Amino acid sequence: MIWWLSMNELIVLKLGGSVITRKEEKEFEINSENLKRISKEIANALNERDFGLVIVHGAGSFGHLPAKRYELYKGLRNKTQLMGFSIAHKSMQYLNLHVIDYLQKSGINAIPYQASAVGILSNGRLVHFPTTIIKKLVEMNIVPVSHGDVLIDEKMGIGILSGDHLVPYLAKKLNATRVIIATDVDGIYTKDPKKNEDAEFLREINSNTISKIEEIGTSNAIDVTGGMKRKLQELLELVRFGIESEIISGTKHGILERALKGERNLGSIIKF
Ligand code: ADP
Ligand code: IPE
Repeated sequence: MIWWLSMNELIVLKLGGSVITRKEEKEFEINSENLKRISKEIANALNERDFGLVIVHGAGSFGHLPAKRYELYKGLRNKTQLMGFSIAHKSMQYLNLHVIDYLQKSGINAIPYQASAVGILSNGRLVHFPTTIIKKLVEMNIVPVSHGDVLIDEKMGIGILSGDHLVPYLAKKLNATRVIIATDVDGIYTKDPKKNEDAEFLREINSNTISKIEEIGTSNAIDVTGGMKRKLQELLELVRFGIESEIISGTKHGILERALKGERNLGSIIKF
């Protein structure tokens, strides 16, 4: 028997690599404490109210290290990169399996949705990514879990799909009502808060406040997909489609659960 839901809310959630792995350690290490806590928070929210959920997780060290080592972000230039492509994907699958495992142990019906098997990039932008199955899964109360990955690029041969690019793509295609990005800082600041004590927090990014951002980029970790700057660019584009988004802390206890339960203003909201 199938429980078809009559859902009127769909949340696309990104779990940043900085939250689920020890991204700055420069080795493959899952952040089990965060993953366990986050899985429980997601389960608590899903148990409290009905909403559709699609999860995309980042790569952290599991993707960025091989992508950097084999220069996968530069496109296909030599044969060695093909082994790098294979290694980076295997590493992402390993991480995905662990994410799924933690989610399942918290009682969430999670199932992997492997990006490299279905998606195509063109100069780094997603041009093909079928979502029929994702829609059906969500309707059946199953949570599809996709992730940043290495993909075929029709112009560059190979390329990197960042979860930060996949999230707005899915949000548009699935008509999501909310987009939540969980990362290792509270949201967007005037400058990187990890490097500048005087960085000021920006609760809302809109046409008036955007000029307050003095400096935005990546963390100290190896990152080939653009860090916070890329997130903001992607989310600003989403605003044009009428979908606002929030960047929240995935490392502080309870914030994600509260956000999924419907609370707003817990991080930086991007709207215009
Ligand atoms: P994730 O792995 O969760 O996707 P990223 O590492 O890509 O996250 O981006 C988050 C990092 O961006 C933060 O750890 C922070 O050091 C960095 N960062 C750079 N500039 C800013 C800024 N202006 N505001 C907030 N964070 C910033
Ligand atoms: C990067 O994905 C994918 C690879 C490097 C293979 P993301 O860009 O979503 O990863 P995080 O969240 O920054 O770690």
